[in-house]
Amino acid sequence: MENLLKVTIDGKSIEVPPGTTILQAARQLGGNYPPAMCYYSSLKDTGGKCRVCLVKVAQTSETNPRPMPKLVASCLTRVEQGMVVENQSSPEVLEARNGVVEFLLINHPLDCPVCDQAGECDLQNLSYEHGTEGTRYEEQRREFNKIDIGPYVQLHMTRCILCYRCVYAAEQLTDSRVHGVLNRGDVSEISTYIQNAIDKDFSGNIIDVCPVGALTDKTYRFKQRVWFSKPFNAHRSCAKCSGQTIAWMKGDAIIRITARKNAFGEVEDFICNECRFEHKQLSDWTIEGPRDMGEDSVISANKYELPVISPAVNVDAKFVSE
Ligand code: SF4
Ligand code: FES
Repeated sequence: MENLLKVTIDGKSIEVPPGTTILQAARQLGGNYPPAMCYYSSLKDTGGKCRVCLVKVAQTSETNPRPMPKLVASCLTRVEQGMVVENQSSPEVLEARNGVVEFLLINHPLDCPVCDQAGECDLQNLSYEHGTEGTRYEEQRREFNKIDIGPYVQLHMTRCILCYRCVYAAEQLTDSRVHGVLNRGDVSEISTYIQNAIDKDFSGNIIDVCPVGALTDKTYRFKQRVWFSKPFNAHRSCAKCSGQTIAWMKGDAIIRITARKNAFGEVEDFICNECRFEHKQLSDWTIEGPRDMGEDSVISANKYELPVISPAVNVDAKFVSE
C-alpha cells in the first residue's frame, strides 16, 4: 500500500497520498480551505497564476522542521511527511491575501451592479472577505472594448484577471486551442483570436470556468439577476456529453443552461455547446428538481425549502419566495 503523508493544516491533520498538494489536502479536511482563482482541479496545469491560495509552511517536513522562507502557493506545493501549514490561522497569510485581492482589483471594474456574474463571482466573494472599502490606486485603469467572440460568448477583457482557466479549458476540451494570452505584464490580454474558439464544441465551458464576468453567455446577458432566477437540476439525452446540467428558470422559461458545479465551484461534468446554447425549451429537458446551491451562495437566500422531493417536471415546486 502506498505510504500516506501526514500534513497538519491549521491544527487539523490528515493523511494523503504523495503528490497531493496542500490545497487538495485542505479541501479534503474541509473548513476554511484556501481560496483559488486560477487552479481548477479538472484542468491540467492550472494554478500558480493568481496567488490567492498562499499559505505559510511553518514546518517543511518531519526531517526538516524549518519553515519555508516565503509564503507558498498551496495549489502547487506538494505535501511532505510531517508538514505543518498555517492558512486561516496565520495573520501573515491573511494580510498577504488581502494584498493579493487588492492587486486583483486594481484593474477590475466595480461594475457588479450590471455584471451578469454578480452573485456567482469568485472575485466578488473574495472581495467581501478580503477586500477593503476604498482603493489606493490612482493610476489610469486598463479598459477594453467588449468583443463578441462568436454568437454565444462575449469577452469583456476589462474584467479579466488573467487566470488562464479559459485557455486551459479551450485547449483541453475543444479539438484545438485557438486563443491565448497575448503580451506580458500589464499589457497582457486574452487575445481576440479567441473569436475562432467559439466554433469548437465544448467551448462554452470557458464561460463556466471564468471566475469573474469576463466571459459571459450572450444568450443570457442581462436577462435576470442570478439570485432572482431559479436553478434546477435538469438532464437530457445527449450523444456528445452527459446532458446533466442546471436549467436556470424565470417563471416557466429557461433563460440559461450551465454545467453543474461542485462545492469548490468547479464544473462536475463539462457540457457540450448544443446542450448549453441550443436547448432552451422546457420540453427539451427533464427537470429533476431545485438545485441546492449551498448555504453560502446568495442564490440560495430565502429561495428553497430543502430537502425537495420533486416529480419529473414541476418547476414551481417548493420555492418559498420570489
Ligand atoms: S477571461 Fe476569465 S477565465 Fe479567461 S483568463 Fe480572464 S478571468 Fe480567467
Ligand atoms: S489558486 Fe493557487 S495561485 Fe491561483
